[in-house]
Amino acid sequence: MQKISDELRREKKTIGFVPTMGYIHEGHLSLIDVSNRNSDITVASIFVNPTQFGAGEDYREYPRDIEMDKMLLKKRRCSFLFYPDVDAMYSKYFKTEVYVKDLSRFLCGIRRKTHFKGVTTVVAKLFNIVKPDIAVFGQKDAQQAIIIKRMVEDLNYNTKVIIAPIIREKDGLAMSSRNVYLAKGERKDATVIYNSLKETEHMIENGVRNVSIIVRRIREMISSKKSARIDYIKAVETKDLKPVNEIKGEVLIAVACYFGKARFIDNIIVKV
Ligand code: PAJ
Repeated sequence: MQKISDELRREKKTIGFVPTMGYIHEGHLSLIDVSNRNSDITVASIFVNPTQFGAGEDYREYPRDIEMDKMLLKKRRCSFLFYPDVDAMYSKYFKTEVYVKDLSRFLCGIRRKTHFKGVTTVVAKLFNIVKPDIAVFGQKDAQQAIIIKRMVEDLNYNTKVIIAPIIREKDGLAMSSRNVYLAKGERKDATVIYNSLKETEHMIENGVRNVSIIVRRIREMISSKKSARIDYIKAVETKDLKPVNEIKGEVLIAVACYFGKARFIDNIIVKV
């Protein structure tokens, strides 16, 4: 991959990069479109990165379908797919980690303590392998996007990070490779996540600024579903993820909850 990237760069082609863990869906493909619009050549990667899964998480069960993925990516004009195996990425002597302080501790980092260290380490490696001019990430994983942007600036990567909007199913559920885990009843219940975020938008449009009122309403809506178990509902600043008490300026409202065993996240950014 490094040789291919060097060759493309010699040909003065700009490289756009979309890292993924595969089981490609329309959310991933929308990032390919953004990359194609902003670069000459798009490279995607598929690597179910073991280091970002905690003990007891779904590393083994994570859905995989490489042949289908290849077909979907090709159809969407992704030119190269990098899909290394685990041993190629992590030799038995592997010791180096990339950790973005503070930002990795909040929100999802509270329950998933080593998750973002796994993400930043693998993305740093992927950037060094693919050498992209631009890299596209989804707003779906808002905290991940903020952390990657921080890493790119702090470590002087010569890569421009673009954050693309969340792609949703018709009923509003954010697309995710993990949606296949949902049983029928849970799938229906899961629409409450986006509905509660939409309700939040309405409340803010109608002048509500108090975060505890907003959080209470989201909690009420999600808890009304039998299969839901809330992890967190937070309103934070978009730059440093610090909690806010009042909706002012740009605020990220982020929700994480379980349906059955699987954990789902969603968010909106509100501006007043
Ligand atoms: P994965 O969950 O496969 O997601 C790959 C990229 O697709 C991420 O940037 C994610 O934010 C984006 N994405 C997922 N669902 C989306 C949706 N509904 N709309 C828009 N974008 C969406 O995120 C990861 O993999 C990994 O942590 C990775 C960055 C590849 C590092 O291992």
